[in-house]
Amino acid sequence: METTMDKVVALCKRRGFIFQSSEIYGGLNGFWDYGPLGVELKRNVKDAWWRDMVTNHDEFSVPPSAPQAFAMTGLDCSIIMHPQVWKVSGHFDLFCDYMTDCRETKRRYRIDQMRGRWVEYPRATQDERLSKFATQRFFIITDADTPEAGIEDTALRARKFFGRQYEKEMKWQSETMIGLARTDDLRHVLAPDASEPGTLTEPREFNLMFKTIVGARGGADDAAFLRPETAQGIFANFKNVCDTVRVRVPFGICQIGKSFRNEITPRNFTFRSREFEQMELEFFCHPKESRDWYTYWRDRRYQWYLNLGLKRERLQLRDHAQDELSHYSVGTADIEYAFPFLEKGEFGELEGVAHRGDFDLRSHMEGKLVRDAEGHLNPELGPDGKPKHAGSGKDLSYFDDQARERFVPHVIEPSAGADRATLAFICEAYTEDQQPDEKGEMQTRVLMKFHPRLAPIKVAVLPLVKKDGMPEMGLEIYRALKAAGIASYFDQQAAIGKRYRRQDEIGTPWCLTVDGQSLQDKTVTLRDRDTLEQRRVSVDTIVDEITQRLRQ
Ligand code: GAP
Repeated sequence: METTMDKVVALCKRRGFIFQSSEIYGGLNGFWDYGPLGVELKRNVKDAWWRDMVTNHDEFSVPPSAPQAFAMTGLDCSIIMHPQVWKVSGHFDLFCDYMTDCRETKRRYRIDQMRGRWVEYPRATQDERLSKFATQRFFIITDADTPEAGIEDTALRARKFFGRQYEKEMKWQSETMIGLARTDDLRHVLAPDASEPGTLTEPREFNLMFKTIVGARGGADDAAFLRPETAQGIFANFKNVCDTVRVRVPFGICQIGKSFRNEITPRNFTFRSREFEQMELEFFCHPKESRDWYTYWRDRRYQWYLNLGLKRERLQLRDHAQDELSHYSVGTADIEYAFPFLEKGEFGELEGVAHRGDFDLRSHMEGKLVRDAEGHLNPELGPDGKPKHAGSGKDLSYFDDQARERFVPHVIEPSAGADRATLAFICEAYTEDQQPDEKGEMQTRVLMKFHPRLAPIKVAVLPLVKKDGMPEMGLEIYRALKAAGIASYFDQQAAIGKRYRRQDEIGTPWCLTVDGQSLQDKTVTLRDRDTLEQRRVSVDTIVDEITQRLRQ
């Protein structure tokens, strides 16, 4: 059975994974709250990343395919930084999207997100209604959430616009068109709920940074920004890290934290939010070795998602075309996932792996850099001939005391979204199968096939009945699991079949059932969520067994 976004969103709400923020007041678009299970799941995603990158990293051995051994360390920087950081980084001038407003409905759209279909009515010249428009060919945009609903919506509106009697004669020019970039096309666009085409305004730039005021006076000089990425805190602290911990280039600095972007059209559940978490690594290396490190990190990060359960057929590594690269980037690849809200064959970005060269460290030294005609980076000059946005003036170069060489390190940046990764793991885990119930009738079972490392609860302890010492024995096992740091759950309410299904639906990989035999021989049944296999295991070894399985 197909996984649809509607089913995923409904399960997230029903089982306490994700709620709309401020729901009791009607919600706030682009903001989400993680419920009791969601917070555990997302924490497990972030922990898996942090452990892999920092805690479990062995700086004395060479990881497979790495050019050499390297150190990894962490940081946790403030969300609000000195405003000059964003001027120098380019976000103040360049971190913009193009948007357009509908004069009729007063709604706002991001140009590159307009989805819809071209429709043409060949006999339009005879039609009075159409004669006042320059063309009989329109791009009907839709704000429907799913591709199926989008097609239905555009067809409905085309029928309404051209007249139902001409439906058979209408020509659908192309199946879908994404990214309506040419401004003159906007005259031919029929916006959602607009009564005629051409109601969209000329595209305008819109800076995505949230502005705030620091301090009580609140003058223009006190304006500051919520960070739109965690990366800049790492660059601003590069020297602090080099001076305080024993690291040598090549090495990496990791950070997990909130970022904020005033997205024009947040959509697709948590995929595009206005407040989200990033997991970013800035890896500093010698310029001559940077291409090898770029390849290493790109491939390693792709593998991370596979290791945690995303299927290869829904995950892709895509190298950016030259015209897609960010203002700082020499090369970038995206790790993308086929989310259910996308059309068949489309993928959405989970993580970008960018070769940023020396752009960031040099910008923070010399002032905001721009590329000249030959492709060299130089400080952008203002009308007075001085750097338009001055850097810190601090020396952020690195001195290699063994090679006796000073250089500005190049940076490789794998930048992942914790919320997007969590959403991908949720979509991948969602499964429906058919299983017989207690009466032998086939029922649809919903299960979340989370990788055990990510599952919010690892083990549910279920006494078969609420008597004969079974609850007491169950509680003892539950407490032993908890004491070993294994997220466990104790449930003695309802029939055992119902309790199993509750656990399947929240993705608990194993259920331990305490029954009559348990009291005699100190064994319990261990039920596997995916295979439904049940086997007896000794109570004395259960903590070790689960610990072993979680390490796999
Ligand atoms: N420092 C580089 C940087 O921030 P990015 O591609 O803009 O690069 C990195 O963002 C990752 O952050 C994305 O791949 C995505 O996973 C996540 N992300 C970006 N904008 C987001 C949003 N509005 N909502 C949720 N996640 C977002």
